Formats: sequence, C-alpha cells, structure tokens
Amino acid sequence: MANVLVTGGAGYIGAVLVPELLEDGHKVTVLDNFMYKQNSLAASFVNPNLNVVVGDIRDRALVAREVAKHEIIIPLAAIVGAPACNRDATAAESINLDAALNIILLASSDQKVIMPTTNSAYGTTRIGEVSSETSTLNPISSYAKHKVEVETALMNNPLNVSFRLATVFGMSPRMRLDLLVNDLCYRAIHERSVVLFEADFIRNYVHVRDVSRVLRWAIHSEKSDGEVFNFGLTEANLSKKMLCEAIQRHVPSFVFVEAEFGKDPDQRNYTVSNEKIESTGFSFEYGLDRGLIELVKGLATLRNSQYSNL
Ligand SMILES: NC(=O)c1ccc[n+]([C@@H]2O[C@H](COP(=O)([O-])OP(=O)(O)OC[C@H]3O[C@@H](n4cnc5c(N)ncnc54)[C@H](O)[C@@H]3O)[C@@H](O)[C@H]2O)c1
Repeated sequence: MANVLVTGGAGYIGAVLVPELLEDGHKVTVLDNFMYKQNSLAASFVNPNLNVVVGDIRDRALVAREVAKHEIIIPLAAIVGAPACNRDATAAESINLDAALNIILLASSDQKVIMPTTNSAYGTTRIGEVSSETSTLNPISSYAKHKVEVETALMNNPLNVSFRLATVFGMSPRMRLDLLVNDLCYRAIHERSVVLFEADFIRNYVHVRDVSRVLRWAIHSEKSDGEVFNFGLTEANLSKKMLCEAIQRHVPSFVFVEAEFGKDPDQRNYTVSNEKIESTGFSFEYGLDRGLIELVKGLATLRNSQYSNL
C-alpha cells in the first residue's frame, strides 16, 4: 500500500477517488483549498488513513513538504474547464500551469505522478480523422494549452503517467453541472428542453468512476509507467446531437433544437481512439447508458437554483 497525495481531492473526481483509495488500503493526504465550500469528503473523515490539509497548491513551502512525504502524487487541483479559466485567467495560469509544474519539478525520480490531462488538446480535427496519442496536438483554449505544457514536463520522468481524459460524467459528492453530459441531463429533467449550438461537434465521454478506477490502476500497473493514454469510452465518441438523442431515450419528454449561433470556448470537435488503454487489458465498467440511468436518478434530487421556489 502506498502513501498517496491527492491535490484537489475534494473536487468532482477526487471525491469519488479518495474514498476508493482508502478502501484499497492506501494512506491518503488531500491538499485542497475547498474553494467551492464543498463537504464532499464528509464520509471519509472517520478513516484514520485520511489526512486533510486545507491549503493552496500555490503555497510552495507547503507543497514541498507534502510532496516529500508521499510515494504517489495525483494532482487534481485546478481551475477546471475553459469557461472557468477565461473568467479568471490570472488564477488559472498560476494554478493550472505554474503550481502544476512546480509539483512535477518537486517530485523525485522514484515518486510517481499520475495526472489527468485533457483530450480537448486535440482541438478541432478534420471529419473522419481519429486522434491517437501520437496525433499532433492543437490546443485552442488556454486551459488546454496549459495542460499540454504540463504534460510535456510530466513525461520527463519515465514513471509518470498522463491520462488525456474525455469529458467526464456521472454523480459525485462534489457535483459539477457544468460538464456537458451532466448539464444536458440536468436540463432534460428540470427544464425539459435545450437549444444546442455546434450540434454536430463530436466529443468523447467517460464516467467518473472509471476515471477513479484507472488512476488507482496506474498506482500498481507497470504498464502505465511513462505512458500517455487517451481515456474515454470508445462507444461514446458522440456529437452533441447524438448525446441528446441518447438522453432522450431515458427522458422521453426531453426536446432539443439546433441553433446556428453560439460557440464553444475551446472549439473541441474530435473523435478519439482509446485503443491504447484498452490494449493494456483495462476495461471500462461504466458505459454511457449506465451513467445516464444514474444521472436521471441522481439529478432529479438536485435543484441548482438558489433563488426560486420552483
Ligand atoms: N472533469 C472533467 O471532465 C475533466 C476532464 C479532463 C481533465 N480533468 C482534470 O481533472 C482534475 C480534477 O477535475 P475535477 O473535475 O475534479 O474539477 P473540480 O473543480 O471539481 O476539482 C478541483 C479541485 O481543486 C481544488 N482547488 C482549486 N484550486 C486550488 C488551489 N489553488 N489549491 C488547492 N486546491 C485547489 C478545488 O477546491 C476542487 O476541490 C483537473 O486537473 C482537471 O483539469 C477533468
């Protein structure tokens, strides 16, 4: 069992991952500034193997102390997604780039850094093109550009691993409704309709529990050492329209219309090959339909509007 440092461990992915790491028997330190006032780790505080440090990953002395104490480092802390980064570009650069690079530089060659990056780094590709790990990267948003720069530094250590995540979906104790599948499902349930822009743009999707599974797999699997993997469901390289059709099968009252206006800030439009991770023997357990059934059940219990009696 390992000593594992998870920065951003109280976030959407971290709040699923950390309890599972503890269940695996690891000793886990979460370093998080709890910027969303989240109570996402409440059920894990009772576990003596969980240590929580409330702090900022830009605090270099703090980060140096914590990195030195752990064999495995899983950096999740970030300002996540292109829109959030555009809203506070200075914070995004200092956290997603400077602080992330600092963690990688602090880790010694016998410490393993396992990091989610993003397949939005493929940017806009030609129709019919399939992006593999060796394809040219074309990051468009500053969020994706920072992730590419961090991945380049990460891969200088032959132990480290990068997972270029597809857009993640599924329920988490720190829920994110800004992620496309979650967002569309929420609207389907609570608003019944959506106006879709760039409806034919294709993206790839993956369930948060499979993300947690692969991060845990990488702790032990030598097959992951020094590798970059695309990580998404092969069955879920879908246009937004196809995704809405899939949601409609679970929420028959849902309607959507396509619009000519509106743009995605990172202009992602790509089909991704996930053959490399599949060839290691890793198998995905949470398909799109399983996730949609979960979301329909879970999101019906959430209301996002603080200032409404509806
Ligand atoms: N969710 C996705 O679809 C997706 C896709 C690709 C990559 N990723 C990457 O996975 C990681 C986790 O994403 P997530 O979806 O869990 O996001 P999230 O926003 O839910 O989690 C980020 C966590 O980091 C913490 N944090 C933010 N700034 C911090 C700082 N300066 N110091 C300490 N803690 C800080 C937040 O409190 C939060 O708990 C990120 O690096 C993200 O870029 C996520």
